[in-house]
Order: sequence, then structure tokens, then C-alpha cells
Amino acid sequence: MIFLIKKEVPLMCKELLEAATETNIEKYCVLVERFPSLKSDAVLEYLRDANYFTAPSSFNKHGDWIGGNFDHSRKVTELLLQYTAEEGLHWSREESPYIIGLFHDMCKCDQKKFEMKNGEVVIVSANAIDKRHSEKSIELIEKNIISMTVEEKLCIYYHMGVYGGDEEYQILMKEMISKNPNILFTQMADTVAAKMGI
Ligand SMILES: [Fe+2]
Ligand SMILES: [Fe+2]
Repeated sequence: MIFLIKKEVPLMCKELLEAATETNIEKYCVLVERFPSLKSDAVLEYLRDANYFTAPSSFNKHGDWIGGNFDHSRKVTELLLQYTAEEGLHWSREESPYIIGLFHDMCKCDQKKFEMKNGEVVIVSANAIDKRHSEKSIELIEKNIISMTVEEKLCIYYHMGVYGGDEEYQILMKEMISKNPNILFTQMADTVAAKMGI
């Protein structure tokens, strides 16, 4: 599948991707400034190589631009921090809303890529769809970024809410939400950001 991004593109695809990477690394580092483990050289190198700063969220639903998945992740983080302040949410550590917001869709980074076609930047499939959405994000985060708390893993595992899995998943999700309402706020932040088109 191919979806158009812009009618006129002044720069070649590679240059656009490199420029977006540099801009988004700066934004990322400002956001996680207080958490050195999230901006170590190794983590930044991994995120850069994984196309974290340029990947789109979707073909045409939300975040369908260069860096769309990063923008979506920042918006989810921003909303989680807003809910935390407004609702007095408690997290097992201060960086939890950042880790959940910024990396819950890490699984999308290798699913799509950008190419130049007929003078336009388009989104194309990079790999076959991986149905292990949340599990894949958790695996990638644990392996390459940071070891997570149980609460962080639960929030990411259930972030897709009613779209996240089979009947068993839904039953367990309800039970988990009753014990940990932060899961619900994670789902809300994700849904609100997507509905905003981000
Ligand atoms: Fe997701
Ligand atoms: Fe998301």
C-alpha cells in the first residue's frame, strides 16, 4: 500500500528523515532531561537506529507523517502528565508516565518506512504486520531501553483497551484496571491523542 504525504517536497527523502531525526532527538532530550538512563548514548543510538524519531504511526489514520509516531508518543506523554497533575495519579516512579507515553508504540517503528515516489514522499510497508503490538513494545523496551516496573508493563500491555485482544485479554484487563487505574488513564491518553489525529 502507498499513501501520499505531500504534493511538493523541497528536499529528498533521506535529507528529510535526517533533519527530522536531529530535530526530534533534541525534543526527546529536553523531555527526558531529568532521567539520565533514558538519554544515555546507548539508548539514543538504539532509538536512532530503530527509526524511532522518524517512523509514522499509521498509513492514514493518525501520525501519518515523518516523525508521526514520535509526535503521537509525545502527545500521549503530555496527556498522561496532565492527568497525573489533575487527578493526582500515583506512579511507582517519577519517570513512569514518560516511559509509558514515549515507548508504548515502540512496536510500530519497523512496520512502515518512507520512500520517494514520483517526486513525493510516501509511506510504504517495511515489514509484515506484527500482531503482537503491546508485547512487542514491551520486549523492545526491556531489551534496548530500560527495565520496567510491573505497573509500566501493565499500562503498556493494556494500552489498546477494547481493541487490544481476545475475550480472555478483556476479562483480565478489567481485573487489572480495578487494581491499577493508571491503565485506564493510559488508554484514555492514547485514544485522545489518536482522535486528535496525532
Ligand atoms: Fe498502540
Ligand atoms: Fe499509541
